[in-house]
Amino acid sequence: MKATTKLLQSIPVDELTGAIAVPIYQTSTFVQEAPGVNKGFDYSRTNNPTRQALEKIVAELEEGKAGIAFSSGLAAIDAVLKLLESGDEIVACDDIYGGAFRLFEKVYKKFGISVKYVDTTDLTQLFNALTPNTKLIWLETPTNPTLKISDIRAIANLAKQQNVYLCVDNTFASPAGQLPLSLGADIVVHSATKYIGGHSDVIAGVVVTREKELGEQIKFYQNACGAILSPFDSFLLIRGIETLHLRVQAQSRSALAIAEHLSQHPEVDQVYYPGLPSHPGHELAARQQKLFGGVVSFSLKDDNVDTARQLVTITQHFHLAESLGGVKSLVAHPASMTHASIPAERRRQAGVKDSLIRLSVGLEDTEDLIKDLDAAIAAVAHDPQYHINS
Ligand SMILES: Cc1ncc(COP(=O)(O)O)c(C=O)c1O
Repeated sequence: MKATTKLLQSIPVDELTGAIAVPIYQTSTFVQEAPGVNKGFDYSRTNNPTRQALEKIVAELEEGKAGIAFSSGLAAIDAVLKLLESGDEIVACDDIYGGAFRLFEKVYKKFGISVKYVDTTDLTQLFNALTPNTKLIWLETPTNPTLKISDIRAIANLAKQQNVYLCVDNTFASPAGQLPLSLGADIVVHSATKYIGGHSDVIAGVVVTREKELGEQIKFYQNACGAILSPFDSFLLIRGIETLHLRVQAQSRSALAIAEHLSQHPEVDQVYYPGLPSHPGHELAARQQKLFGGVVSFSLKDDNVDTARQLVTITQHFHLAESLGGVKSLVAHPASMTHASIPAERRRQAGVKDSLIRLSVGLEDTEDLIKDLDAAIAAVAHDPQYHINS
């Protein structure tokens, strides 16, 4: 069975009423027949039928054994970190999402958990960073915003040899584009706010584990700490997931056309998109991903922060906003938005130029999006204030 059919098959029909859409069980508690005797649900922090339906769907989607839905992507990351103890070490990709960096450095560091940041596209660097205290390897692939690609299968083999968990933040590829558990990872996390939700109307996170037992441990921490997804938001995610494959296929097609166009543009310096043969991770991405995704980053020849900041305010179809993965196209300036919490020096070391612009390609017509970018680039390039001295 093909992935889209399997996905739609996995969305249950309500047994009680036959409702084809998963009902929203907007209830905090469940009436019991006798103390401790219930229909499988007792309190909605622990379990809720709408959330449980979503959790089963995402577990199937990621080909894992357990899914757990959280109130945000960061809450999902936080629950995974609770597997660790004081003295444990994490080795993480250097081009990491700013919020994960902040959580590692400003919250978990004070509990004695330390993190080394390395270029995980280089297996030797990764190997050399491991110590007997390393308990977790943290990967984003493609990374945010330079779309670097790390070899999940090779790193999963290394993690197994060293008895270390491998967790992949699969937000950028989405489950339509990449299945890290099938490549050997132990845990997948998502900011479901992005492609899984797909409509920029919900903040949510999910964790999926390859083994049931690890999922049960994470679910224990969720219930103990409380960062659950509401029934309504669970419903929104299920509704979003129904069109996940279609959306990400269209977004990837459009993103490739935009990346190809930008790479020929005389004012553009660098284009970062794993679907371009010139991208250093192209062959690996073609091997481990089903789709190259809807995010494209680029920089102008005029390597000037102010020019980049000007450009992101004048596009018409690309709305200036944080986030990605929705049906409406977005544009962002990572250095002053999503990545502002990462110190400038560390950001630059990870290859994130201060003038870099990130696009999240939505479902508008590709030609309209290209025209929009061309007009914005022309406007900043021809404004004498921002003119390139070539
Ligand atoms: C790669 C990645 N992981 C995690 C998160 C955090 O997710 P949320 O904003 O849903 O908490 C984000 C948010 O931008 C992200 O881009």
